[in-house]
Amino acid sequence: MTDRRRDAAETQGIHAGAGEFPPPFGLNPPVVTSSAFDYRADQVRYPRYHNTLNHDLVAERLAALEGGEAALVTASGMGALSAIFLGLMQPGSHAILLDGLYGGTTDLVEGLLKPLGLCFSIWNGEPDQLESLITEHTRLVHVESPTNPLLGIVDLARVARIARQHGLISVIDNTFASPVLQRPIEFGFDLVMHSATKYLGGHSDLLSGAVVGSNVLIDRIRPTAIRLGASMNGQDLALLERSLKTLAVRVRQQSANAGELAGRLNRHVAITRVFYPGLADHPGHEQARAQMDGFGGMLSFQLAPGFEPEVFLDRLGLIQPAVSLGGVESTICQPSRTSHSRITPCERARLGIDDRLMRLSVGLEAIDDLWDDLRLALCPS
Ligand SMILES: Cc1ncc(COP(=O)(O)O)c(C=O)c1O
Repeated sequence: MTDRRRDAAETQGIHAGAGEFPPPFGLNPPVVTSSAFDYRADQVRYPRYHNTLNHDLVAERLAALEGGEAALVTASGMGALSAIFLGLMQPGSHAILLDGLYGGTTDLVEGLLKPLGLCFSIWNGEPDQLESLITEHTRLVHVESPTNPLLGIVDLARVARIARQHGLISVIDNTFASPVLQRPIEFGFDLVMHSATKYLGGHSDLLSGAVVGSNVLIDRIRPTAIRLGASMNGQDLALLERSLKTLAVRVRQQSANAGELAGRLNRHVAITRVFYPGLADHPGHEQARAQMDGFGGMLSFQLAPGFEPEVFLDRLGLIQPAVSLGGVESTICQPSRTSHSRITPCERARLGIDDRLMRLSVGLEAIDDLWDDLRLALCPS
């Protein structure tokens, strides 16, 4: 990545979309709390229509950060995913999903979309297999990179090229990387979605989602988002807008901390395996290096037999056992009991997700404090 782009993430996170407000407002945009607006105006505004001042501002900033034309900010990451699938597919149409997606996405597909008549195939991540799954009914391809929780990496340019050649819409969940470390639209992706609850919000205090893409695609998704009612209020949008100002500096430091911890954990006798794309032995290392500007703040590791997961978690003092990720504070969880608890035990076993797998969201604490916490919790009892 060039220095110019790095500057852009820091600068856009603070300034994009901010516009100019009358002097009495000072430097920060006003928080519009109204849910009632004059319907005789040129554009009818209403929070559920995703078009209040705070919505427009955050959408413009996220579009700038991801390099897209437009964005929709939704009430959650699942709100964004639901609007994408339901807005772009119909009963009988088909989508291809990368194997090993976030468990909530799999649950949405199994629990809602399939019963509505939408069809899906699972892609094993091998580029050669992707084309063989495409049928005349295929409308989109959805991937994550890095994946949750095993940090798998896909070749973004290749997926986007294959999708384009076949007239499919390519969608990526960019939650783990954030636009600071990865801008999939530059590799040809059509839509980028986020659980903004994670790095974009960054303080474990709001629930939000987003989808970024071309004006045409966002306009196709918007009516479904409005029907679903997955919009946000002005106060949460203002909180998200404020968080975006520190996104770049947070994510770069979290990524640096995670890289350091991954290396130390990888050498620890109590750990059988560390999943982190920054490690040279990670199967996606070279690909991640080619398409990311840093390997991210998320890593997973497998506790060696003999180390009880509960004992390890109880011994941690600084790192909090918690669901979610991407906050300034380090958190840890067992995906088997959190993000992937709703998929079948058999499916979890197939994916290699058991109770000994720990997913660590590395925060902004001093690296030596984090390491001391892990090191002491990993001491033999
Ligand atoms: C990668 C990923 N995508 C989507 C989601 C769903 O986001 P939300 O919880 O904001 O609906 C999550 C939540 O953990 C996630 O980790």
